[in-house]
Amino acid sequence: VNAEKFSADLIDWFEKNKRELPWRENKDPYKIWVSEIMLQQTKVDTVIPYFHHFIEKFPTIKDLAAADEQEVLKAWEGLGYYSRARNLQSAVKEVALEYNSKVPDHVDALSSLKGVGPYTRGAILSIAYDKPEPAVDGNVMRVMSRVLNIAEDIAKQRTRKVFEDNIRAIIPADNPSSFNQGLMELGALICTPKAPACMLCPVQKHCQAFALGIQDELPVKTKA
Ligand code: ADE
Repeated sequence: VNAEKFSADLIDWFEKNKRELPWRENKDPYKIWVSEIMLQQTKVDTVIPYFHHFIEKFPTIKDLAAADEQEVLKAWEGLGYYSRARNLQSAVKEVALEYNSKVPDHVDALSSLKGVGPYTRGAILSIAYDKPEPAVDGNVMRVMSRVLNIAEDIAKQRTRKVFEDNIRAIIPADNPSSFNQGLMELGALICTPKAPACMLCPVQKHCQAFALGIQDELPVKTKA
């Protein structure tokens, strides 16, 4: 793929077509973090009201660090996967104590925080801090498996690294935030699991799967 042209087409499309979402109103790393944890196992439409309520109740790192755990769990009620909320508060307490209540902007410090894996770390670094780090989730693997005709099994843990390496080679230094969010948005709106809307796709001309007519065969995913 031509990295410059692919990125330019993706970013142009994202800037013009992005949904207005509450966590896109500013780049507060704490709010980006909360949103990405909520979005990991929950759909955007479900997350929106929970995000508003959670941020109203715990507007900053300090507020969440000082909160009663029961209050935090109550604000999470209905979202499920409650270990996400416990890990988030535990990590936020660590940030309050060890990092002067500022979300770290480096790989190592972020990686040591509970519940912050490679995806969340990449999302925070790219969206909040403009660092050219990949943020690879299932949507991004689907999009890039088609663009680059990558047939590795996305059900395998180590496959994520294949995508991270490929994205590192493409991600632009000047707007990694819109690049990563563009991939997420493309996966949500156009490059869907079934019947992708290739005719509307801003990167159709860069897509190897479309050229070969195999978009329906990618990504490869074995049953768990
Ligand atoms: N899914 C995961 N992260 C997202 C984001 N920042 N915006 C929209 N959908 C997402």
